[in-house]
Amino acid sequence: MPVDVLLGLQWGDEGKGKVVDVFTPHYDIVARFQGGPNAGHTIVFNGRKYVLHLIPSGIFHPNTACIIGNGVVLDPITLKKEIENLEASGEQIRDRIYISRRTHLILPTHKLLDQASEQSKEDKKIGSTLRGIGPTYMDKTGRNGLRVGDLLSENFEQKHQQLIDKHKKLLDDYYGFEYDLEASAAEFAEAVEFLKSLNLINSEYYLNNALKEGKKILAEGAQGTLLDIEFGSYPFVTSSNTTTSGACTGLGVPPSSIGKVFGIFKAYCTRVGSGPFPTELNDDIGERIRQEGSEFGATTGRPRRCGWIDLPLLKYAIQLNGVTDLIMTKADVLSIMDEIKICSAYLTEEGETQEVPFSYSENVEPIYDTFPGWKKDITKARSKKDLPAELISYIELLESYLEVPVTFVSVGPDREQILETEPMAV
Ligand code: GDP
Ligand code: IMO
Ligand code: MG
Repeated sequence: MPVDVLLGLQWGDEGKGKVVDVFTPHYDIVARFQGGPNAGHTIVFNGRKYVLHLIPSGIFHPNTACIIGNGVVLDPITLKKEIENLEASGEQIRDRIYISRRTHLILPTHKLLDQASEQSKEDKKIGSTLRGIGPTYMDKTGRNGLRVGDLLSENFEQKHQQLIDKHKKLLDDYYGFEYDLEASAAEFAEAVEFLKSLNLINSEYYLNNALKEGKKILAEGAQGTLLDIEFGSYPFVTSSNTTTSGACTGLGVPPSSIGKVFGIFKAYCTRVGSGPFPTELNDDIGERIRQEGSEFGATTGRPRRCGWIDLPLLKYAIQLNGVTDLIMTKADVLSIMDEIKICSAYLTEEGETQEVPFSYSENVEPIYDTFPGWKKDITKARSKKDLPAELISYIELLESYLEVPVTFVSVGPDREQILETEPMAV
């Protein structure tokens, strides 16, 4: 059986958590392959809302194993809190979580370095979630990092202290940055002991063996393609590969094992943090979308910037990921609009283009087509025939531009609020 991948095609928060939860009954294993607690994946069912940062979104289904892959960066403090909170609400989950020994650890000093780096950037801030993501991946690629498997080695404490000492020197170079290391030391030590009690595995073997046994695996992306370290709106990106290829390196499964690639996008577009956003609406319409769509970050609570859908960017993301199926979320939010705009090309100094420019936004003016809104409540729609004709035309237009079918449409945050538009066996 192949590994299917579900990932975001915009700047994150497309509704990945919700749809992974809906798809999970069709899979034996759900695996996170990159990012870390910068992610906030929301799942709503039975009148309750859960936000996951590190635990894969398949966790609410008792027959599915959840893997935190080698490509993830893991904060033991966040993981302990997340598991304990879920268990306190009655979910028995820890036996179903498996963590790669190769996963890199986020230390409290990584979070301090993230803060110090952001502070020093003044008006050039990336808008990081300050969860220590960038500094941890820097230590990984700089070959200084600590991994989950190191926790079991005799000289862990020595390696740990060496890394803290290195970080202290770096922190001292940030003029005026004050910090208190003692505050988190005991909490970190406790969280490390907790982590050691979990299932720590060689997940590349676990996953490849599962494939041989015919099991079905769903790789769950975090962030979105436009935040990818290679192809995103650099430097306003995260520090990992958020694309399909990241699933291979972040789990240790070969490219030939990839099956379906589900690309998920909102019917409009949002971004949290700084950086280019060609179709951003800095006006009343943007504010209405923000309020109607509850567009506030699931990790930091920051207001998300809102704008119209940007087809050149979506097409770029589809190309980079080899998307086979599109999933559209939050069309219900646009029900308030009299008319809806779609950016179908850009006007640049060289003329009209559908290609994403190097800088994403410099000297770029979006060219819009305008469509009538559907102005109907679609939150109770459960099949294509329940959708208004204007929305079906909107979807058909996207499909013809993007050359990939929209196979699912989500019409609200709840697990039940989704419909399949094309017959497709997941
Ligand atoms: P993720 O990071 O991609 O998992 O997305 P987030 O959870 O950060 O943000 C998506 C938000 O939209 C969450 O509050 C979801 O509960 C909500 N959501 C998901 N799908 C839909 C939908 O189709 N309609 C509406 N109105 N809300 C949705
Ligand atoms: P999910 O998985 C939206 C953004 C941050 C910032 C930039 C870098 O919930 O879709 P980082 O903390 O990685 O150093 O931040 O990336 N960002 C996200 N935006 N959704 C996310 O995750 C994000 N994770 C990081 O706001 O602009
Ligand atoms: Mg999110």
